[in-house]
Amino acid sequence: MADVRRVAVLVSGHGSSLQSLMDAAADPSYGAEVVLVASDRPGAYGLERARAAGVETAVVRPTDFPDRAAFDEALTGVVAAARPDVVCLAGFMRILGPRFVRAFPDRIVNTHPSLLPAFRGAHAVRDALAYGVRVTGCTVHLVDEEVDHGPVLMQAPVAVEDGDDEASLHERIKHEEHRLLPAAVRLVALGRVRVDGRRARLLAAGPGPATVPAPTAVPAPATVPGPATVPGSPGGPAGGGRHGRAPDREPIDGGTP
Ligand code: GRF
Repeated sequence: MADVRRVAVLVSGHGSSLQSLMDAAADPSYGAEVVLVASDRPGAYGLERARAAGVETAVVRPTDFPDRAAFDEALTGVVAAARPDVVCLAGFMRILGPRFVRAFPDRIVNTHPSLLPAFRGAHAVRDALAYGVRVTGCTVHLVDEEVDHGPVLMQAPVAVEDGDDEASLHERIKHEEHRLLPAAVRLVALGRVRVDGRRARLLAAGPGPATVPAPTAVPAPATVPGPATVPGSPGGPAGGGRHGRAPDREPIDGGTP
């Protein structure tokens, strides 16, 4: 296939977001393929998913390096060797260093399980529940040198239901992440994102599957007056993701969460 764009994915855990990407990329019209899955954890199930799909894998363990900078350098080298058009953080639970972020400017996409800038950090779903919000969601965004901070690509709202616990709410948020993340990664891979300061403009024209999912309305509880729909980003929905510098990710030379 001509000019298929290359996607490198970083995972730390279960890898359901990675799976949504690989499933989307299985359609030839997607226009991009996952060429590398790298993890900081040898036991990450996401690596198994990659192997099952025949995708190259790599493990870069922080404990094998003397400090964060050395880990950052090694991870940058491993990912750069895959010549990615876009790097996707799909549940990667470490804060990337400046060396890595600067190697792939405006080409790193993260997904975070809240409507940023609310609830940055590693416990976004728990924190949203504890706060008592009626609506949370997910954000897919470009990564800059601050955690959970770069320009927003897509967001989707998710209603908090009576009786929700962290697992049930996170499951519904993931459903939205799995819808938005492949679409956002595709747009970045195909060069259809223009960044102007904090604004990311999504250029949705072109062949292939729908690139910008429609916003999902959040049904308002009977007791809550007024609309509960979160407005979409220019040309797209509102959604959630995370990255930047917040305590939601392990320090690079740290232990396990
Ligand atoms: C996602 O909700 C992502 O936003 C958060 O961690 C979760 C990753 O899940 N950072 P999975 O490993 O892709 O299943």
